[in-house]
Amino acid sequence: MKTERIKNKRHLIAIENLTKNEFFSLLNNAFNLLEISARDIKKTPALRGKTIINFFCESSTRTRSSFEIAAKWLSADAINFSPSASSLTKGESLLDTAKTLQAMCPDIIVVRHKDAGVPAFLANYLKDTSIINAGDGMHEHPTQALLDCLSLMQHYNQGLEGIQGKTIAIVGDIVHSRVVRSNIFAHQLLGNEVRLIAPPTLLPREFRDSFPGVKIFSDLEQGLKGADIIMCLRLQLERQQEHFIPSLEEYTNQYFVSRKKLDALANSGYVVMHPGPINRGVEVETALIDSECSLVEKQVSCGLAVRMACLIDLCTYQEEVHAAN
Ligand code: NCD
Repeated sequence: MKTERIKNKRHLIAIENLTKNEFFSLLNNAFNLLEISARDIKKTPALRGKTIINFFCESSTRTRSSFEIAAKWLSADAINFSPSASSLTKGESLLDTAKTLQAMCPDIIVVRHKDAGVPAFLANYLKDTSIINAGDGMHEHPTQALLDCLSLMQHYNQGLEGIQGKTIAIVGDIVHSRVVRSNIFAHQLLGNEVRLIAPPTLLPREFRDSFPGVKIFSDLEQGLKGADIIMCLRLQLERQQEHFIPSLEEYTNQYFVSRKKLDALANSGYVVMHPGPINRGVEVETALIDSECSLVEKQVSCGLAVRMACLIDLCTYQEEVHAAN
């Protein structure tokens, strides 16, 4: 029946769940959508009549506004749910709140939560809407890894081939980072060499064991030698119940990424990335992050095309299922 809600939904929870084809196809579609940002009038009718709810239970600057703008450029209606002004503060459970949002017929709910597993949990219980994971605890942040790869595609400008055969060194607070987990899966799908650089307390053995094939370094200089892509991560002090480093000064002394170090050790033409927010002067040198080898602003802009591609992908799937019924 035409009016029946579609039961068969697709979700975007983790890069780990994507096949190589699905991952490559999202990247290629996002690459084709990059030109929308350069248009004078950015509105396209692709998702007219669709409703997207941003259900962010954790702070966000880039991800939330990027999903909102992406939805608006595609002519979907985008609603931002604010937990602090909602019935969550009156003790309503997360699932009841999510079911309430679902009852308003959104096509997609974009979820960010401090606890790992919340988007997958909601995808399991909410049968009438698609879920996109916008970052769950220390688990994954799939659209961040996609936008990181898209900014590399834009930088090297040779399609997917241009970002393969590279060495990426990811430096910083590895254990608390969902960005790193999604990027490990992404770069392994691309066949790139993935190196992780951190003090052993921020890169424990359990973490290493869950990512076979990844190269581990506790010495910054060793890890940077011959790297093409250097991704710096923020020290996530809000997720550290105990002290993982003796002091910020101690950390900076050993793991500070500077232009001088990269010029001496990394491959020529290296690029520097950071998902933001940046602790300038703690994990990375300000002059480096503001230099021509930094992709930081490109990463933010590429987020729009990636989120458009993901929204289109899930809505198109829903329509295909609907048409087949
Ligand atoms: C990251 C996040 O929230 O996981 N930021 C982002 O989405 N761009 C990284 C961080 O918080 O350090």
